[in-house]
Amino acid sequence: MTKENLIEQEKAAGGFEPLIVAYCCNWCSYAGADLAGTSRFEYPVNIRIVRIMCTGRVDPILVFEALRMGADGVLIAGCHPGDCHYQKGNFMMEKRFDYIKEAVKSVGIEPERVRLEWVSASEGGKWAALVREMTEEIRRLGPNPLRFARDAKKTEAALDAFKSQRLRWVVGRSQIKVEIEEEKYRQTVDSIMHVEIERHMITRALKDKGPLTAEELAQLTGLQPNRTVQHLIALRRDGLVTEAGEKSDQYLYQLV
Ligand code: FES
Repeated sequence: MTKENLIEQEKAAGGFEPLIVAYCCNWCSYAGADLAGTSRFEYPVNIRIVRIMCTGRVDPILVFEALRMGADGVLIAGCHPGDCHYQKGNFMMEKRFDYIKEAVKSVGIEPERVRLEWVSASEGGKWAALVREMTEEIRRLGPNPLRFARDAKKTEAALDAFKSQRLRWVVGRSQIKVEIEEEKYRQTVDSIMHVEIERHMITRALKDKGPLTAEELAQLTGLQPNRTVQHLIALRRDGLVTEAGEKSDQYLYQLV
């Protein structure tokens, strides 16, 4: 189904209503949302709140799971910088969030669909305004593009990538002081993240379709043919992929 078809279908069903998943820290934003309710501030009902103890506990996997399961947007809300009950949780989240946004963009989702905001327990009005604003923004963007086959595959690959030890290690490492300059470290993580996502797109395709040539893999994943070959060489070197005969004078590859 194309995006246009889906929008038409949503219109016929009474208009597109975004679904937003909000991970709210127990101590500030959850209480802020509660205050908005008890103060009778009006805000859209498009939000589903998940209470967490601290934004520092939001794993990138949770963001991708929510998007994969059909959320049109994801909000992470916590205590203002300096007010975290675990001291550094929100600072850790702030760093991790840069990578989350970058990964979201790389799988074809508009980065505006994910937000990190600070809302204290006394800011019921701010919470209501934030939900109103985010709902409008997502309504403008339309339905989550992951409802289209190829993009969904990319997100699954991103999920796999964020579960991989290599990416978890470098993203986790960014939370603590590193010996190399911050910008260089960021570039390194970005490049590892893109490589991991692309390699997982290839392994997912091989898992779903069985042995494929590099050309078929490039077509299925949307990756450049030379980039696909580079990944296949690396995956073969790491013992994850092996040759499985030939087809039309090209090597076939399969998972080990
Ligand atoms: S306790 Fe609220 S962000 Fe850490």
